[in-house]
Amino acid sequence: MKTLITGGAGFIGSNLAHRLLSKDQEVVIYDNLARRGTEKNVTWLRENHGEAFQLIRGDIRDAQRLEKVVGEVDLIYHLAAQVAVTTSVLDPREDFGINALGTLNVLEAARRCKNKPIVVFTSTNKVYGALEGIKVVDKGGRYDFANVKGISESYPLDFHSPYGCSKGAADQYVRDYARIYGLPTVVFRMSCIYGPRQFGNEDQGWLAHFLISSLLGRPITIYGDGKQVRDILYIDDLLAAFESAVEQVETARGRVYNIGGGRENTISVWVEFE
Ligand SMILES: NC(=O)c1ccc[n+]([C@@H]2O[C@H](COP(=O)([O-])OP(=O)(O)OC[C@H]3O[C@@H](n4cnc5c(N)ncnc54)[C@H](O)[C@@H]3O)[C@@H](O)[C@H]2O)c1
Repeated sequence: MKTLITGGAGFIGSNLAHRLLSKDQEVVIYDNLARRGTEKNVTWLRENHGEAFQLIRGDIRDAQRLEKVVGEVDLIYHLAAQVAVTTSVLDPREDFGINALGTLNVLEAARRCKNKPIVVFTSTNKVYGALEGIKVVDKGGRYDFANVKGISESYPLDFHSPYGCSKGAADQYVRDYARIYGLPTVVFRMSCIYGPRQFGNEDQGWLAHFLISSLLGRPITIYGDGKQVRDILYIDDLLAAFESAVEQVETARGRVYNIGGGRENTISVWVEFE
């Protein structure tokens, strides 16, 4: 199987590339290296796997170039994205161009080629917005759901922020390409993923940002009241879920999966970091 990873030099992408390369699979990384730190991830991959993978320094907004690459693969992990809510607010057009239009470019390339590759897309739990219909209570200094155990994939979509809108639009396109064109696509709506090779900053990748800042003795700004709760998932567990979906694509195709660490793996600032 030849696998294309858009955004393969990023945090999730480089971990995924490492996993596939360790299993002797063919990997092509397509990344414009826009994210700070991505060169370090490429160097790390080269140190560990030499020339075993191909790196194409390309932009997902370049539909023609993408089409050529997609025509030669069996599986696409579409991870490349503008990943920060804050940046999306500053430049919603750029955010839309990368996340919504860039995803359409990937889908169109997949639809138009002969090999009909599997497309796995990394969406976000932000497509559910502020969960206004869900009651929360303060339980010992951290918030918790009052009446439900989690959020299902059938919970109403409510896109907040330009990032939420562009990723949400992409999520719906990816899902619909399975229905309308029969393309084997799978959507993962992910919570906060953490692990090695994450160059987190205040705008995105907050867990890595907290760890890096505390190691360097830098102050961390806590927004809100510190009782907010986040669901976290370790990268290897996410990658195992990707692998299962691909292995059982006849079941997974056209489906959306919320993926996170679950209630027992949620953390909150005051309670866990005290
Ligand atoms: N990390 C998380 O907690 C999390 C949570 C939910 C969803 N996601 C999604 O998972 C995906 C990967 O996230 P990540 O944490 O690895 O982020 P990341 O920033 O480390 O990786 C994204 C990669 O995409 C590349 N990229 C950006 N714009 C590009 C463009 N126009 N063309 C080609 N490449 C481009 C960047 O250089 C980077 O290597 C993203 O789609 C993100 O929205 C991540």
